[in-house]
Amino acid sequence: MNVIRTVAELRAALLGPRRAGRTIGLVPTMGAFHEGHLSLMRQARRECDVVVVSLFVNPAQFNDPADLERYPRDAARDEALAAEIGVDHLFAPGVDEVYPSGFTTAVSVAGITETLEGAHRGRAHFDGVTTVVSKLFNMVGPEVAYFGQKDVQQALVIRRMVRDLDMPVRIEVCPTVREADGLALSSRNAHLSPDDRARATALHRALNAVQEEVSAGERDPAALRARALAELEAAAIEPDYVELVSTDTLAPVSRLDGEALAVLAAHVGATRLIDNQLIQPSLNHNREVATPLRAPTIA
Ligand code: PAF
Repeated sequence: MNVIRTVAELRAALLGPRRAGRTIGLVPTMGAFHEGHLSLMRQARRECDVVVVSLFVNPAQFNDPADLERYPRDAARDEALAAEIGVDHLFAPGVDEVYPSGFTTAVSVAGITETLEGAHRGRAHFDGVTTVVSKLFNMVGPEVAYFGQKDVQQALVIRRMVRDLDMPVRIEVCPTVREADGLALSSRNAHLSPDDRARATALHRALNAVQEEVSAGERDPAALRARALAELEAAAIEPDYVELVSTDTLAPVSRLDGEALAVLAAHVGATRLIDNQLIQPSLNHNREVATPLRAPTIA
């Protein structure tokens, strides 16, 4: 596996394969790899001739400098894990390579960035994500890029950007990977104290409870939210939000007549966690729903 630091080296490494018509897949990451990242890399490895993983902790998407400072980093471990999976190129540029002095451009998606995470973290968060992801797409030129469903709003925002700007890349949204007790894998889980780690399982229980109620016939989003809130309250977790939203627009749904997303965010101790689940009225038993959002779900 090549570890590449500059855009010039990256372009040189991809020129031959591109000219030979090889499929290039990109897995954009901020490092601190866990099984969620590795599952994206494995899927890319299965589906593409050349796999590029980018590792860049993007300062532009952090609204809190302390959060950026304490974001977990372990470059040596990340390199070893990516090499084990058979990644071809690990692109790990420095901040000056991505944002050289005089950088003033931003890519901004309106609408679906203004709700949920956008409302809580501020507009600059998604502007930071879309700006860096469009730069990565221009640097790598992938046919396909892989994102996790855990950050579902991010995935939908990127799909919208790709559609609106005619970017020639397919966005694959891959299922959330969970611990055995349901906690969605996240680099931030490393910050949870043992007590908070135990309490954090309530997030997944809350989402499952929504599916259970829907499977039992409940269609009223207010009743479904109340059920999820009760699960969180039992674990002494006060959420930033719990919502049932459209899989297209992320707008709150007024009735569960078709598929919807249950989304939530909460501080567990000092760590802010997010999670979501596709809620399916046709599902008549309580089981993990790992269905990734299919490409046509965004209009
Ligand atoms: O999901 C992430 O790790 C980041 O938001 C991404 C997509 C790599 C952009 O910095």
